[in-house]
This record gives sequence, C-alpha cells and structure tokens, in this order.
Amino acid sequence: MKILSLEEVAKHNTKDDIWIIIHGKVYDLTQFLPEHPGGQKIILRYAGQDATAAFDPIHPIDIIAKYLPPEVCMGAVDEAALANVEKVETEEDKRIRLARENMPRLEEMYNTYDFETVAKQVLRGDAWAYYSSGADDEISVRENHNAFHRIWLRPRVMVDVAKVDMSTTMLGTRVSMPLYITATALGKLGHPDGEKVLTRAAGKKNIIQMIPTLASCSFDEIVDAKLPDQTQWLQLYVNSDRNVTKKIVTYAESRGVKGLFITADAPQLGRREKDMRQKYSQEAPDELSDSDIPRNEGAARAISTFIDPSLSWADIPWFRSITKMPIIIKGIQTAEDAVIAAKCGCQGVVLSNHGGRQLDFAPSSIEILAEVMEALKKEGLDQGFEVYIDGGIKRGSDIFKALALGAKGVGIGRPALVSHF
Ligand code: LAC
Repeated sequence: MKILSLEEVAKHNTKDDIWIIIHGKVYDLTQFLPEHPGGQKIILRYAGQDATAAFDPIHPIDIIAKYLPPEVCMGAVDEAALANVEKVETEEDKRIRLARENMPRLEEMYNTYDFETVAKQVLRGDAWAYYSSGADDEISVRENHNAFHRIWLRPRVMVDVAKVDMSTTMLGTRVSMPLYITATALGKLGHPDGEKVLTRAAGKKNIIQMIPTLASCSFDEIVDAKLPDQTQWLQLYVNSDRNVTKKIVTYAESRGVKGLFITADAPQLGRREKDMRQKYSQEAPDELSDSDIPRNEGAARAISTFIDPSLSWADIPWFRSITKMPIIIKGIQTAEDAVIAAKCGCQGVVLSNHGGRQLDFAPSSIEILAEVMEALKKEGLDQGFEVYIDGGIKRGSDIFKALALGAKGVGIGRPALVSHF
C-alpha cells in the first residue's frame, strides 16, 4: 500500500477534494460526502486530518469495507508520524482528565446512582448527552424509575433463607441471576472497547448480553469476545431492505445467537433534544449551501435512517420463515399488544418504552406488567411465553418487584452502559 505523508493528506481539505485518515488508512471521501448519513459537516471538520477518534464510537470497523468501494482507499500514512502529531488538550479533555484522576475506587461505588454520577463527570459531553437523553420532556425517562416507588413489599418472615439461589432460565439458558444486559447503541462513546466490555462482564457473571444492531463494535467482534458457552441475543432494527435484514438474522443464527429481539417501538427515533443540542454546539457554523440535507438532529437520528417504518404484525410469519431462533418483540407497551405477540406465535415480549427515549408519556413497563400478565392468562397464553421488562431498574429490589409481578427477568441498559468507563 502506498505510504502518504501527513502533509500530502492535509492538502486534500476541501469539499471538492476531501481525504481523511481512519485507522492509519487514507480515504478519498469526495464522492461519499453528500451521502454520509451523519451529514457532511462532521466529515468536513476532519478534512485532511485523522478522524479515527470521531469515527470509532459511531461506526463499527467493518462499515468501510461494506459501504465504500476499495478504490477510495488512497494509501496509508506513516503510523509513527501520526503518533507524533501533538495533541492539544481541550477544555473538555482537561475536565475529563481531572475527573478521572479523582474518580472514586470501584469498592466505593455502591449503587447505580454512584456510577451515573461518575459517568457524567468522566464521559465526554456528547457521550453523556446521547446516553442520558430521552424523548421530548423526558417524563417517561423519570417515570420509568419513579413507578417503582409506588410499589411496596409484603415482607414475610420466619422463612429459611440460609441458602438463596438467584439463578433462573431465560429462553432455555440457565443464568446466574434474573437480569440481562439489554441492547444500547454506541458503546464506544463510553469506552474504547465498546460493547466487548459488556460481553466480558456478562461472561464472567453468567448473564446474557443482547447485542445491539447499532453497536460501535462490529457484530463479529462482539461474538468473538464471548466465552465458548456464553449466550448472546440479538436486538434487531429491521432494515427497509429485507435482504439486509435476512442476512443479519441468518448470520446471527449461524454464529450461535440464541434469541431474536425485534425492536417494535422505534419506527422513527424519538426527539432527544439534549442529543440534538450537542450536535449543534459541536459543529462548525454553516460551511455548506442549502443543498446539504439537514441532518443536525443528533447522534440517534444520524445512525437510524435505515429503520423500516412499515414493520407490522404481518411481518412475523416472514421472520418465522427465516429463523429458528425464538422471536421476542421488544417495545410492547400495552396488554393488547402482548396478547397479539403471543397469538402471532412469538416466544415472548419485552415490555419497554425504550428507556423513555421514544414516545414521551408511554407508561413505564413495571406499571403495565400486572395487567399484561392478567391478559395473557385470561387468553390462556401465559404458559411458556416469557415476559421481560426494561427501563428504570436501578436496584435488586426493583428486579424483585418485577419478578413478583410476573416477569421472567429484566433488562439493564443505561446502568450497564455507564459502569463501563
Ligand atoms: C437509541 C437507539 C439507537 O435509543 O436505540 O438511541
């Protein structure tokens, strides 16, 4: 491969002739620029320079080979020269460095709130905005946990609890406790190893990790990081191009994934204003004409343009025809829809409002759990049909409440995400 000097790359720094460096390789993005789903400005900001740090959290490594023709790779830069480029510490870098130096030890962090507090200090502003944001006024985000405050326990005493076994099964896999790590996008915003950190933790603790469609790591990287007998599930955003969807599903099954969780609550990603603001503040003022498609709507919208808004119950037989994996609908928010999912032959549902990130004022999953279980029972559909919930789970007592009301287990999203820095 041709070795290019940094000076040579730097010359290609305009809209009509733009090269950028990613992982030591130089790409001519002139043709691709208008098609970039994240908009042109972010690429222009790195014109003629190394964009690896900005590229990594948002894109799995195999995306270049998948979407760019090989001829746009102009060569490689001398890695030593790249390493020598002096890095200026920005105000934000400094804030993060100081916060990291003063971070409490792991043993000093007792609960998920402690992790959240530290995460807010040590993560970049855009990472925190993306992870913590919710739809509109973030009422559902807050309600997700608040709803647990309304549920009180009936403690029974004089029961032998000398030995406690928290293990259970989820879709046939025995796990050490009734929780799994649910899918959350863009893991590298929090840690350079992204979702692999969660894979390793799940393996160590013998719990299940649900692999996100929109992970920062590639699907293969996440599967390669698991232990030989570790179970993983796949969260699926259905692509409008059903051939792409079919490829993803059949490939996941061939790599040993044990459950297909189809996301049903995001035909269009929610309006997350915190995330949108971040994008505006980070980008250079308009260098582009009106012809640029406005894509200043934050990380969430930029990465999700492919999601098929026509997905419906009528598609379930097709999914059944392409996979033997159990099919679970993720994002159920009413008892009626849980009943339909069971009638359609799905193996379970996740009651979820997507961490309050989709439809503001969608009820919390714990709130609707009891009525969902009752409706399934009434229709005789509760046997062998697994009901999970996610959203707002912060403590063991929350998990206990979910199990007591009929859930098979719970998904943990943000609390896992903000503990892997
Ligand atoms: C989100 C999507 C990508 O909630 O799941 O941001």
